[in-house]
Amino acid sequence: MHGLELIGVTKRFGTGAAAVADVSLSVERGAFLALLGPSGCGKTTLLRLVAGLERPCAGRIAIAGNVVADGARFVEPEERGLGMVFQSYALWPHMSVAENVAFGLRVRRLPAEKRRRRVADALAMVGLSDYAARKPAQLSGGQRQRVALARCLALEPPVVLLDEPLANLDAHLRETMQQEFRRLHRESGATFVAVTHDQSEAMALADTVAVMHEGRLVQVDAPRALYRSPASAMVARFVGRGALVPVEVLGPSEEGRRTIRLAGETLAVRGVAPAGAGLLCLRPEDLALVGEGEGVPAQVRESVYRGGFFEITLAIAGLPEAPVVLTAPEAAEPGRAVGLAVRDGWVLAAEGGA
Ligand SMILES: Nc1ncnc2c1ncn2[C@@H]1O[C@H](COP(=O)(O)OP(=O)(O)O)[C@@H](O)[C@H]1O
Ligand SMILES: [Mg+2]
Repeated sequence: MHGLELIGVTKRFGTGAAAVADVSLSVERGAFLALLGPSGCGKTTLLRLVAGLERPCAGRIAIAGNVVADGARFVEPEERGLGMVFQSYALWPHMSVAENVAFGLRVRRLPAEKRRRRVADALAMVGLSDYAARKPAQLSGGQRQRVALARCLALEPPVVLLDEPLANLDAHLRETMQQEFRRLHRESGATFVAVTHDQSEAMALADTVAVMHEGRLVQVDAPRALYRSPASAMVARFVGRGALVPVEVLGPSEEGRRTIRLAGETLAVRGVAPAGAGLLCLRPEDLALVGEGEGVPAQVRESVYRGGFFEITLAIAGLPEAPVVLTAPEAAEPGRAVGLAVRDGWVLAAEGGA
């Protein structure tokens, strides 16, 4: 059964463009989905629609097989049984950690003994058993985030919605919390949907990533598929590092591959683009430096030490506006003529990509 299912969900505020436009999406029960996209693309609105904090203008939303919103029905947020963690953790400052976690259980009139056990379990899950008596002000940002998570998990919701839950944390803490989230997801068995504008976070957290752009879903895929075979130029640019280089697609070479022309060289790369103008998505690990006269002719632009490796920017002959980046153990001198070996790549149609 689906943990969550959306069919044709649309939300318009006033007369402008739809904030969420005809979104259809199913999330398997127990899955971890990341909703990824640039700021303003409609992620929070989509999450609020699922939570019942917004009413859809059209479409249907079902949670664990039960319709919670369609043309005829609208189930109130508190009746949807969802857990929610937002960017601002919204803890009660005057309550202790344990009281904050217990709050929702109290509202649900859970008996005191059960309540105590659930609070203790939830705090143990997030590693804050020793902090039960503290006030939020006496905690670090990461600890507060965990309290918010414990408060949500104590309710044992079948679906947990997270809106940019790590955006307020520093980079190191964010990585630690990503691991925590994955563990909590596994242990709770709940369906998790996390909104983020950070592509590396989306990939680290989720088993499926849904990319949004201007209110629409543009690709829903496993992180690796999204990275290796982006459906459009927008996705290619947004997910992972890499360059998009204009090429000519000559035609199919074999199943799922295309023969292309790049700077006078003929190559075979992965792709399903039709013959004509194409865009070749090249990730740093697809590329290697070879000697001048081999591979695709190019020139070194810049070489930057990144700790353990150099990041080398190259201009392919005749394509100065589409520089490519690769990594190498040694520096390369700017201005030097080199060859570029293209070991892998994914070609898109030049038109139709956002
Ligand atoms: N309550 C609202 N009233 C009017 N416009 C809104 C409201 N909430 C969101 N929007 C608009 O909807 C679009 C999507 O916003 P949002 O869902 O917050 O994007 P994201 O979370 O991806 O940054 C934006 O253009 C935003 O200005
Ligand atoms: Mg948002």
